[in-house]
Amino acid sequence: MHFRHEIFEKNAIYLLIASLIAVAIGGMVEIIPQFFIENTIEPVKGVRPYSPLELAGRNIYVREGCYLCHSQMIRALRDEIERYGHYSLAAESMYDHPFQWGSKRIGPDLARVGGKYSNDWHYAHLRDPQSVVPESLMPHYAFLEETPLSYDRIADDLRTNRVVGVPYDAADIANAQADLEAQADPDADHAALLKRYPKAVIVTKNGPMISEMDALVAYLQVLGTMIDFADTNEEKLDR
Ligand code: HEC
Repeated sequence: MHFRHEIFEKNAIYLLIASLIAVAIGGMVEIIPQFFIENTIEPVKGVRPYSPLELAGRNIYVREGCYLCHSQMIRALRDEIERYGHYSLAAESMYDHPFQWGSKRIGPDLARVGGKYSNDWHYAHLRDPQSVVPESLMPHYAFLEETPLSYDRIADDLRTNRVVGVPYDAADIANAQADLEAQADPDADHAALLKRYPKAVIVTKNGPMISEMDALVAYLQVLGTMIDFADTNEEKLDR
């Protein structure tokens, strides 16, 4: 054995070739199985595509760069779970294009902010954060309330998401505009909307038009609320 090993120890070219073969085998073992599995994300019950109004709100969130101060990724660490709730699962951001995990926390993580406050709190906070959290250094976003939401191309937005794998069906796309309007109108009939998008939060239209703030609040209110933990294999981390 010692004798044969000498071949590699004394000849750099042989050693190089043998190393390349070893690395190639290792690489194949790691990579090839990936081609044969459907999905690397384990789906969980409850996670659904965004409703049209939530999707429009998400676009505002991205446009305004909220991710520069807020993450949406609760890590599996005790202090994070105690503060923000169950750690984030991959499936919870499977319909996010692009994902909003973020890398900086000047403000708190928002992955489970949905349902934590009332709609009114969010409106007041976005208008003037210091009015509800005096020590806040978050900028004011009052202008979002005066800016009408432009949503005549919302169906195209759903279609585009479908191209990258979000399972919107033909009915979702055909009803995109009507669903969006229903979610921003407390007096509308919400049956069809809630059937398509369970747990969607109806926002109050403050004035005759649907504002960008309405969409943003609908988006914030659904964050982290879709998942049904009773139906997953995930267990809450022991406290
Ligand atoms: C300059 C950094 C900064 C930016 C940009 C920013 N925020 Fe904040 N945000 C904060 C800070 C700091 C807090 C904590 C104090 C407070 O509640 O106002 C906060 C708090 C929040 C909260 C309450 C979270 C909780 O759990 O109490 C929400 C919701 C929120 N921000 C949403 C947004 C949205 C939506 C945007 C984009 C339109 C945004 N923020 C942009 C810094 C920022």
